[in-house]
Amino acid sequence: MSSASIKSMRVILAFSAIASAVGGETMTIDLTRPEARQRVYHFGENDILVLGYPVYGGRIPAILREVFQNLKGAETPAILAAVYGNRAYEDALVEGQDTLTENGFVVTAAGAFIGEHSYTEKVGTGRPDVEDLHAAADFGKQIAAKLNKDGPVPITVKGNRPYKDAMGPMPFRPVTTDACDNCGRCAEKCPVGIISKQDAKIVGNGCILCAACVKG
Ligand SMILES: Cc1cc2nc3c(=O)[nH]c(=O)nc-3n(C[C@H](O)[C@H](O)[C@H](O)COP(=O)(O)O)c2cc1C
Repeated sequence: MSSASIKSMRVILAFSAIASAVGGETMTIDLTRPEARQRVYHFGENDILVLGYPVYGGRIPAILREVFQNLKGAETPAILAAVYGNRAYEDALVEGQDTLTENGFVVTAAGAFIGEHSYTEKVGTGRPDVEDLHAAADFGKQIAAKLNKDGPVPITVKGNRPYKDAMGPMPFRPVTTDACDNCGRCAEKCPVGIISKQDAKIVGNGCILCAACVKG
């Protein structure tokens, strides 16, 4: 099992009730940090990949596209869980399906789940709530039953081809206040590794607006 995400992890963990329902060992790979994203991961036909990832601009976030390319299957069943902030998930599932299929996976199930929006409270407020988490867990169980009964059967996923245009680079970056005591937590959490561990005031280019640095 693998997850490409940060706070959406709560939804993924609920969803991954599938692991216990299918049986076997579970391995969790957190692909949030740059070091983890650069590795290549190989899966066999007896593995099941549960891939959780956030939706950015209705697509797979640009920084995760390399990750999708680094996942190598061998007729491996794959289950997609795209987590979005209650605006829309548009082509994020279909793009996930296409990329994984090219890389040797059989996308057998896919779901889009509402989570907390990274940078606004205008949508996704209070989500995921208890019902969302139950729905994710139930979905996981249904998929496990389907897999146990029919094996990996490809599905049709909602979305458009060609996909909508991807978001371009964003001009944002986090700033510190006088209250900053340089504890280094924000640097540790940053998925793009642009905050200096020595001095949080020093921030490079490439902020993705995920807000992991401020939300912790
Ligand atoms: C740059 C950016 C673009 C986003 N685009 C969308 C979007 O198109 N639709 C949507 O519903 N949510 C969108 N979101 C919200 C995230 O999909 C949502 O907050 C998700 O739960 C983030 O997961 P994470 O906290 O694990 O990164 C976007 C967030 C960011 C930072």
